[in-house]
Amino acid sequence: MIQHRLILSYVLSLAAIRSGASPRPFSASMVVTNRCNIRCAYCNFPLLKEPEMTLEQIETVFTKLKRMGVIRLGLLGGEPLYRRDFPEILSMAKRKGFFVSVNSNLLLYEKHADTLRDADYFFTSLDGPPDRHIKNRGKQDYEKVLTAIRDIRGQGKPLTAICVITDFETEDAEYLLALAREERFTVHFQPECFDTEIVMRSAKEDFPQEKARRFWKYILKQKQSGAPIASSESYLQYIISWKDYRQSARYVTGSRCAAGRGYIFIDASGTAYPCAYTKGKTPGINLLEDDWEKSFNCKTPCTECIVGPMLEFNLLFQKPISSIANILNIT
Ligand SMILES: C[S@@+](CC[C@H](N)C(=O)[O-])C[C@H]1O[C@@H](n2cnc3c(N)ncnc32)[C@H](O)[C@@H]1O
Ligand code: SF4
Repeated sequence: MIQHRLILSYVLSLAAIRSGASPRPFSASMVVTNRCNIRCAYCNFPLLKEPEMTLEQIETVFTKLKRMGVIRLGLLGGEPLYRRDFPEILSMAKRKGFFVSVNSNLLLYEKHADTLRDADYFFTSLDGPPDRHIKNRGKQDYEKVLTAIRDIRGQGKPLTAICVITDFETEDAEYLLALAREERFTVHFQPECFDTEIVMRSAKEDFPQEKARRFWKYILKQKQSGAPIASSESYLQYIISWKDYRQSARYVTGSRCAAGRGYIFIDASGTAYPCAYTKGKTPGINLLEDDWEKSFNCKTPCTECIVGPMLEFNLLFQKPISSIANILNIT
């Protein structure tokens, strides 16, 4: 059972971190292309210029990840469905035995619906009602995304919509949660991330810190009253206690982060980093020539962050019991 292998791989990863053994990440996120069919206001992926790996090179990286102990593989972009050979990439990943999640804006879903039946988990993006979504993510067919979500959920596949928070309007979150209840998906709320290579913007000096904090408190309350929110309570509490939302990550002496040891990020050219946020801030390791577990020095340029997926992963390693309980929905 893939679930058992996922848990085993995570436990071995945790044990390697706790014992100081060489890194044994259980999860990897890999960009298959930086190219994208749309231009979101906060995202810089489509503007990154680096060579894209061939299918053969991707296979080399998959083999290395497998050998390293990785079991959970996220395929993302840019827009992964924009790459013509995406069906081959996905089936190769499945043949290697990974638990595969796909992050997609779903605008090209119709063309790829059959291929995508192989995926184990879907992440898409919904920033709120159509006007908010379009303001953040450009003019597009919102209904198309909803049709794809219905099709995926109709097959019984799990799906989480990532909602990037830009304006802290509780009505937008309310709308999205009502939609999520109706269409039976979950929502992961994440702060807009600033000041790194993969994102577009820096925070404004007059960032509304208190409005932001009130918004996160509201989301936590919704979570506690049973709303379909994928983000864990620990994640929401951590964000509420973050001092300055203009800063997405910081270096704190004495604090350590699981990036690079519990999970890694691989860019479109096959260069790996501890996490997506550290691309451009720390030297990468080219997985086509080198091995992560031999070359990673276990140092990260920051040690604490509120960058959505990375924060959840860090909590998984810092608070394993409550994080697993959240995943299993028993709290
Ligand atoms: C980079 S995209 C790739 C997948 C796909 N193209 C999509 O949009 O769903 C992965 C997720 O990162 C989110 N994202 C992009 N820029 C961000 C930023 N500056 N801060 C936080 N999340 C961001 C997107 O909204 C999306 O949900
Ligand atoms: S967030 Fe996704 S859809 Fe939007 S520009 Fe970035 S990669 Fe494309």
